[in-house]
Amino acid sequence: MAKDIYIGEILKNEEIQLDYFLMKVSLPAAFGQPLPGQFVMVRIAGLAEPFLGRPVSVYSYRLRKSSVEIELLYRIAGRGTQILAGLISGSQLEIHGPLGLSYTIFPEKENAVFIAGGIGVAPLSLLAEHLCKTLCFPSGQMTFYLGAQTSSAVVGLDKLSELCYNINICTDDGSLGRKSLVTTMFQKDIKKYDPVNTAIYACGPRGMMKALAGILKPAQFCCQVSLEEKMACGTGACMGCAVAIKDGEGNIAYRRVCADGPVFNLAEVVWE
Ligand SMILES: Cc1cc2nc3c(=O)[nH]c(=O)nc-3n(C[C@H](O)[C@H](O)[C@H](O)COP(=O)(O)OP(=O)(O)OC[C@H]3O[C@@H](n4cnc5c(N)ncnc54)[C@H](O)[C@@H]3O)c2cc1C
Ligand code: FES
Repeated sequence: MAKDIYIGEILKNEEIQLDYFLMKVSLPAAFGQPLPGQFVMVRIAGLAEPFLGRPVSVYSYRLRKSSVEIELLYRIAGRGTQILAGLISGSQLEIHGPLGLSYTIFPEKENAVFIAGGIGVAPLSLLAEHLCKTLCFPSGQMTFYLGAQTSSAVVGLDKLSELCYNINICTDDGSLGRKSLVTTMFQKDIKKYDPVNTAIYACGPRGMMKALAGILKPAQFCCQVSLEEKMACGTGACMGCAVAIKDGEGNIAYRRVCADGPVFNLAEVVWE
């Protein structure tokens, strides 16, 4: 798996909704084919501050003859992403990746359920695309639950609606879709799914995933989550992104989100 640092050229960096951007970057072919759930560490080439890269999931990619184009869907969260948002086409980025472990796919399961909170839609979209287009998983058996605080934070619907028929949208304030938390919306539907034949994939804020752990525990579903921790190196060297994970016997060990994840089994994560 390639883990080099590449110089990428920004082809497009558009504000698609207030504070949400879609960036397309052209990279050398050696970057290879990213897998769903993998991310890149992004730094602005030649800029000393911010010194550390920022982790961003691969939202989509296209393999060209002599290059790879990746898309990043990102939200302005602070200084680093604010600077990214100001970059114009032709600017250069240092892209380290693809990094991390991908979602494990269970194509033999009858249903694939995706639960996304906010910008958590980014890695799940690539996963849905991979299932649908590469593995020919039937669109009718994929169900997406997408929640956000408000309508302007619901992003990625254009791509999703090409992949999935069943998209359930909710917002905390009811400005788009149902007025609900995404976990509550999913919980109302849970009886539709057979735990043995359903794979659940999730990404979102920690609180959302903790709530999901509470909902799924008694039901014995197989669920993988992508965790979003602050990162420094992105490659497993600094332990800055360590989280507590328990094994089958309940023993707790620390695992690096960047190198041992970002995808983990929901049941193994210690949420307290
Ligand atoms: C594996 C992974 C994939 C990610 N994919 C995406 C993506 O596709 N799109 C996207 O918009 N964001 C994504 N993030 C989150 C993104 O990395 C952070 O929003 C970004 O690093 C913030 O940097 P900043 O300099 O703008 O903000 P900072 O000034 O560093 O922080 C601003 C605020 O964001 C919080 N924050 C910082 N880093 C993170 C983080 N990693 N996770 C959650 N909160 C954080 C801080 O605590 C602070 O409250 C991902 C994170 C990880 C770990
Ligand atoms: S960010 Fe350094 S070990 Fe994960």
